[in-house]
Amino acid sequence: MTDPSITPRPRPAGALRRVGIAGLGHYVPERRLTNAELERAVDTSDEWIVQRTGIRERRIAAPGELASEMGARAALEALADAGIGAGAVDLLLCATVTGDYIFPATACEIAHRIGAPQAGGFDIGAACSGFVVGAQTAAQFIATGAYETVLVVGVEKLSAIVDYMDRGTCVIFGDGAGAAVFTTLERAGRGEYLGGSSGMRGGEADALSLPAGGTKSPATFDTVERREHFVRMQGRQIYRFAVTTFVDLVEKALAPYGDDELGLVVPHQVNLRIIESAAEQCGLPMDRVFVNIDRYGNTSAASVPLALYEARAAGRLVPGKLVCCVAFGAGLTWGHVLLRW
Ligand code: ACO
Repeated sequence: MTDPSITPRPRPAGALRRVGIAGLGHYVPERRLTNAELERAVDTSDEWIVQRTGIRERRIAAPGELASEMGARAALEALADAGIGAGAVDLLLCATVTGDYIFPATACEIAHRIGAPQAGGFDIGAACSGFVVGAQTAAQFIATGAYETVLVVGVEKLSAIVDYMDRGTCVIFGDGAGAAVFTTLERAGRGEYLGGSSGMRGGEADALSLPAGGTKSPATFDTVERREHFVRMQGRQIYRFAVTTFVDLVEKALAPYGDDELGLVVPHQVNLRIIESAAEQCGLPMDRVFVNIDRYGNTSAASVPLALYEARAAGRLVPGKLVCCVAFGAGLTWGHVLLRW
């Protein structure tokens, strides 16, 4: 099934400015939660987890370590990489579903931590697609000339909302952060933003959500007793959605380009089986797909910037070649960003 809302929107020609990525940053907590430890907590096995998800370990925030702290660390690294001070950030966007508070926005807390009181900003609640949506938002503000520098942070402290008594979800998620500094291509000199797409479909909160704590079901003793402040997921429903959407996004994004122009697909690190199955359906060899889910698990909004950071560190972002980031998540939401590195 092809979703009609997956429509790549290329950068319009004309007076708009070209946009690039000037810097990348990341942060992962020190603590590693291995499959062996999970074997001791719930009825599961290393073999089951590796076979069904590809995950071997994930990082878990230290007690008291906040999402805003992790996001700030990734942000500072991205700014240093760009050679730009925090005082130059015009807009700070934070993609997360596990912010410090329901409100205020975690973007405000990150701006305070990095010393960017002049920046405007807000949080993006598009779950695992949040960074990709943030990147598109950043690109529009810069292309139109509204802002010079936009910092996009993807951060998650999923360990705070994962039920470590539920084997269906606790094996999947991890904590971490990634960040990217967007500015004009002229200043960035690399990572040109060529376009993107984003889509969503409502009425499917049952597939993946945090059932309580919002205004539909405010926190009560009963909601806590029913463990509704933890992630609930219909694994099979998500599996089918993720594979179909991945294939559709990649095929449509790359359709105008020749095979030899693609450098790397950097997908949301949802689950290795989903990534491999979608890659096969797109006819993509796995050496053109970046994977680091084995070490971090699924870090939702942090997953794409963290993968992009590691792909560059591994020398896999080839100058002149296309980099296609695709993401999909709760909502349901999805989107892609196409870059020329
Ligand atoms: N260890 C051992 N057994 C398990 C575990 C576990 N950790 N979790 C589930 N099982 C069991 C189930 O209880 C079930 O047992 P039963 O047959 O006795 O009832 C059996 O394994 C099969 O369960 P399914 O849910 O049908 O297993 P499936 O093959 O679908 O794999 C999984 C489950 C890995 C969650 C899969 O559905 C999946 O990958 N879904 C995508 C979910 C995902 O990646 N979410 C990420 C977040 S969403 C996002 O980022 C967009």
